[in-house]
Order: sequence, then C-alpha cells, then structure tokens
Amino acid sequence: MANNRLLIVGASGFLGHALCDVSCDDWERTPASRSGQKGHLVVDLTQPTLVHEVVAQVRPRWVINSAAMTSVDGCERNPALARAIHVDGTRNLVQACERVGCGLVNLSTNYVFDGEKGRYAEGDEAHPVNVYGQTKLESEVILLNALCPGIVVRTAVLYGFHPSCRPNFVTWAISSLAGREAIRVVIDEWANPTFVDELAAFIFKLCGTDFRGVVHFGGADFLTRFEMVERICAVMGLDFSLVSSITSAEFGQLAQRPLRAGLTTALARTLCDIVPASFEHNLRQLKGVFHKIVNTYV
Ligand SMILES: NC(=O)c1ccc[n+]([C@@H]2O[C@H](COP(=O)([O-])OP(=O)(O)OC[C@H]3O[C@@H](n4cnc5c(N)ncnc54)[C@H](OP(=O)(O)O)[C@@H]3O)[C@@H](O)[C@H]2O)c1
Repeated sequence: MANNRLLIVGASGFLGHALCDVSCDDWERTPASRSGQKGHLVVDLTQPTLVHEVVAQVRPRWVINSAAMTSVDGCERNPALARAIHVDGTRNLVQACERVGCGLVNLSTNYVFDGEKGRYAEGDEAHPVNVYGQTKLESEVILLNALCPGIVVRTAVLYGFHPSCRPNFVTWAISSLAGREAIRVVIDEWANPTFVDELAAFIFKLCGTDFRGVVHFGGADFLTRFEMVERICAVMGLDFSLVSSITSAEFGQLAQRPLRAGLTTALARTLCDIVPASFEHNLRQLKGVFHKIVNTYV
C-alpha cells in the first residue's frame, strides 16, 4: 500500500489507547490528543487551524476520530460543548481531510437509535433521545455528505482494560464488587458490550477495504446491564449478592437512555471476516488482569 499512515485522533481515550496499542503490522500509526501527552501530536477538534495543520503534517491515508464527549449526562448539561466537539469538530476534520485528500473514519454510537425496537441494522431509522445521540447523528450526516472518503463505525458499551483510562462499565463492576461495595444495576437497558481490542482490530481491517458508509460493530451478545454483571460475577468469582436490580426510570439519570439499542453486525462480518468473541470469552481474557484492574480502581 503506497500510503499506510493512520492518524489517531483522541489517542488519550479508551478506544484511542487500543488503536495505538493493539498489534497491527499493516498500518503506521501517529497518535494525536488534546493534551499532547506521551509525545502525541496536539489536536483539539474545536480548533480548525490546528486540525488542518496536524492532518496536513501527517498526510495519512485515513484519520480515525475516536475523540468525543462521552459523558451522556454531560452532553445533556452542556449541549453547546457537545455540539462543538461532535458536530463542529467533525466538520473541521472533514474539511481538513478534503483539503489533504485523505479519508475519515468517525466513531459513532448505538445511541443514535431510540431503543424501542431492539437490535438495529445500519439501514434502520435513527431517532436519538438525548443530546449525545443527536449530536453524534449530526456528525454522521456531515461525514456521509463529505467529498472525502468517509466511514461511520457505530459501536456500543466499550469494555476492556487500560490502566491509564477511567473505568468502563465492566471494570467499574469488577472493582466495586472486588472491594465488597454493593451496586445497583439497571435491568431494562440492553446492548451488545464490545471488547475494545476487537473494535480496534476491526477498524484496521476496515481501513484496508473499499467500504464507504455506515457500519455497525458490537459484541456477540445482546444483554441487559444486569445480565452483564451476572456474567462478570460468574467468570471473575465475585459475589452476586452485592448486586441489586433497578429500572432505568428508578435510576433517574439526567439524559434519557435508549433501552433496547443493540447493534446487528452482519455487515461488519461480511466486510472484514471478523467474528466477535462471546462476552464470556472476553471476560475470561480479562480475568488474566483481574488484580491489575482491582489495584488500579479500588
Ligand atoms: N465508551 C463507550 O461505551 C462508547 C459506546 C459507543 C460509542 N462510543 C464512541 O466511541 C468513541 C471512543 O469512545 P471512548 O470510550 O474511547 O471515549 P473516551 O475514553 O471518553 O475518550 C474520548 C477522548 O476524546 C478526547 N476529546 C474530547 N474532546 C476533544 C477535543 N475537543 N479535541 C480532541 N480530543 C477531544 C478526550 O481527550 P482528553 O483526554 O483530553 O479529555 C478523550 O481522549 C467515541 O466516538 C464514542 O462516542 C463509545
């Protein structure tokens, strides 16, 4: 491949770390983050000049944008900031990619759906119920109408372990229960939890295809948060009696959540010949770093 460079934007985040760390021989990766930590190039999506300079400096084949405002309630509290990062930030990246002549892979979410129907395919109608989902959907439209090659990868409930990242749902449950803390977990919110390393490997394969458009990538199992914790306890040997169930209405989070918002992954399998492992299989992998998870978060 003549140009095998990838620019990873949001490299300080959870997926960003996986995109930098997961083994991959096909691509030369340049990380960029807002803080410029660990020798990263500095990029703030809300600064168009900076965005253009970094893309022009690297001249990648693809920019992979994993930067986002991932606090769903935070987006609800500060919609202007969510819009600046998701909508204006994507527009800034698109314009830079168009000028430099490279493609953009933008990460999106199952939260573009309202969660009324259950597992969603790429062609299903999006109808977000919160600011996070609405601004991510607007970012999708900008990329799909761009002149540069564009791929939208929607995913759901990322899990895995990276010690310098804040806990995700799975590592939060493990560390809380290992510390003998009682937790309340919603029983009526379904999704397919997605192993972050599998998502990174999928994105690398996808960048080597001619595919353009929207594709879903999620884990193999469609589970409620409560069922996820049930499996976590079984695999990790944690005390399930510390877990109580609650409905999302009782939980009362600021932003409404889509309840049945899993993703179908048939297209991803066809495109890249990747079959996501089961949730339990990946939990068994994570069991190997159980003590590191506990030492990091308890
Ligand atoms: N996590 C999930 O369960 C989940 C589910 C579905 C979809 N997704 C999508 O997957 C992608 C990756 O999520 P993640 O969990 O890896 O997110 P994350 O860990 O919260 O990381 C987000 C990153 O975005 C960066 N960022 C925020 N504002 C920025 C800006 N203005 N300019 C540049 N960087 C900025 C943050 O940088 P700082 O370190 O400087 O704050 C952080 O590194 C996102 O698009 C998210 O919407 C995630």
